[in-house]
Amino acid sequence: MDIPWWRDAVVYEIYVRSFADASGDGVGDLAGIRERLPYLRRLGVDAIWLTPFYPSPMADGGYDVADYRGVDPMFGSLDDFDALVTQAHELGLRVLVDVVPNHSSSAHPWFQEALRGVGRDRYIFRDHTNNWKSTFSGPAWTQTPDGQYYLHLFAPEQPDFNWRNREVHEEFLDVLRFWLERGVDGFRIDVAMGLYKAEGLPDVGDQSFTSVSPVWGQPEVHGVYREWRRLLDSYPGERMAVGEVWTDDAEDLARYVRPDELHQSFNFAWLEAPWSATAFRKVIDDTLAAVPYATWVLSNHDVVRHRTRYGTDDPGAGLARARAALLTMLALPGSAYLYQGEELGLPEVTDLPDDARQDPIFFRSKGELPGRDGCRVPIPWTVDPPSHEFSPGGVEPWLPQPESFAELSVEKQEGVADSTLEFYRRALALRRALAGEIPYTLEWLDSPEGVLFFTRGPLICALNCGTGPVHLPEHTEVLLTSGPLKRGLLPQDTAVWLRHAS
Ligand code: NOJ
Repeated sequence: MDIPWWRDAVVYEIYVRSFADASGDGVGDLAGIRERLPYLRRLGVDAIWLTPFYPSPMADGGYDVADYRGVDPMFGSLDDFDALVTQAHELGLRVLVDVVPNHSSSAHPWFQEALRGVGRDRYIFRDHTNNWKSTFSGPAWTQTPDGQYYLHLFAPEQPDFNWRNREVHEEFLDVLRFWLERGVDGFRIDVAMGLYKAEGLPDVGDQSFTSVSPVWGQPEVHGVYREWRRLLDSYPGERMAVGEVWTDDAEDLARYVRPDELHQSFNFAWLEAPWSATAFRKVIDDTLAAVPYATWVLSNHDVVRHRTRYGTDDPGAGLARARAALLTMLALPGSAYLYQGEELGLPEVTDLPDDARQDPIFFRSKGELPGRDGCRVPIPWTVDPPSHEFSPGGVEPWLPQPESFAELSVEKQEGVADSTLEFYRRALALRRALAGEIPYTLEWLDSPEGVLFFTRGPLICALNCGTGPVHLPEHTEVLLTSGPLKRGLLPQDTAVWLRHAS
């Protein structure tokens, strides 16, 4: 059987607002992305995933969509989108776009009609509320002037659709067709385990993402993905879908990744694992046992960047661990999702001034939670202030960049042998070169405590999460290390790829 392109693909997430600004308004846009496509090609990724660029009041960074078939003028036009897809394809890069089916913006024409009493059944309106909470803090219900309440599992500006209404299905099938016709290679599905809520909307004790509950993971949602899969399969060129499914249970995840459903689901258990060989090994074993096609991800636009997460107990170790985790991830069977800026070793920006913050989580929690702006700070392309050429000329970016970004800029790292950028380029190039030799399977080798050794055909990967250096497993060649070896030993917080005679 031919291997589908997405099985081992490295997909690069572009948070559109923060990648590159060509128009000079301080906000990233589609034309900016186009200019930087050669950078991504050179980095060595296979595909890009664009976060929402659709018309939106931006109550949640564009995850509040007012028109599912357009481009917000802030980000460009449909012509810009078409040009981006064409140019990406010419460079051999596939393009995934975000689809946001759990909720629309409150500015969407359907919701505006619903407020006027027309077509309320497309959303979830009730005379009485239940005890559900918004994921962004506060109640999940907002009252309308005529006394009814509507459900929003996120911000009040994001009313949840009623997927028990067939019209909602037809609308989204049509939205998918719209983008498929424009040449997209697939979709990232926002809140893929949401969509259906339990009949009767019963009160809940625990609303966390980690299990099937009246709020998340209702079985009916699988019918939606079966319909979507049939649609995707009716187009040529292996169009695919990856679901945003938050669960720490690999069996739960596997329910979405089936031959007649989604091609992939994000594996957030990998991202949530602490810096621990035991924890990493458990996630790897559980994942490979449960899903036919694995994915791995360390960072995205919703979580604290992994350099900072891994440095919580020891800030100096964050970058070394981030690089080691990346090398390990790229050695695992399946597809890997990267988040813009991790190839520069960007940290979470933890000291944004309150008046710069924009995430609704910060506002709805009344400042108790910092929100997600710290991982969304625009990319530093050069050392130059004020925006490191994220925006042209003297324009300030929509979120301020810290001083440390100059040293981490692309310009500063380009061509510097031990920089994180060059390390990513080498790792991705090597992964590509080895692809034909490596089986999908993985075997564990005996290793000291706190250390993982695994092999896939001629490749061995070793990761040291322990407290001191260890001997390398038997090998014929050192292919790549995430940091220097010390007298032939693998230091702590370091990973290595080795070749062995097979
Ligand atoms: C997940 C998205 O990644 C996040 O940014 C957004 O706030 C929520 N879904 C709601 O759409």
